[in-house]
Amino acid sequence: MINVIFVCLGNICRSPMAEIMFKSIVQERGLALSFNITSAGTSDCEEGNPVYPPARRMLEKHGLPYEHIARQLTKRDIINNDYILVMDSENLFDVLRLTSGQYSEKIFKLCSFTSNPRDVADPWITGKFDIAYSDILDGCECFLEYLMREKADMLSYDKRH
Ligand code: 4NP
Repeated sequence: MINVIFVCLGNICRSPMAEIMFKSIVQERGLALSFNITSAGTSDCEEGNPVYPPARRMLEKHGLPYEHIARQLTKRDIINNDYILVMDSENLFDVLRLTSGQYSEKIFKLCSFTSNPRDVADPWITGKFDIAYSDILDGCECFLEYLMREKADMLSYDKRH
């Protein structure tokens, strides 16, 4: 079982999008049983709130309706997950501040797995939910390719059940 948590600032746009998109990708590949996939925000500013409507509309447009309630990332989340995948440099800074620099070996920017490492820009600010969607899709697909290449043994759970 590979435990993955996606992290953004508010947990109402990018990280819930990444959570449902990655769940869909692993489901399509027949790998759903090998993963536990969640999301959280570095801030409590949106705690208890649903997915931001433009993000939900973008997911619905791609056949991924999703209900999610925002929550703040805790140190326990960092300890319990194998991969903490953040959206941008600010998230990375905030997560490392939460851990006092510990666990850096399992904290990555999502798009660091792509051939074009970059931030997933905050669509809450840019208004560009289509760009966030395509950056997250690229990051999620390249992350799964990385796991299949480097951690194939951890993905064998589905084949045994
Ligand atoms: P997210 O977007 O980090 O992708 O969920 C944001 C949502 C809310 C705020 C900032 C970013 N906010 O400042 O309330």
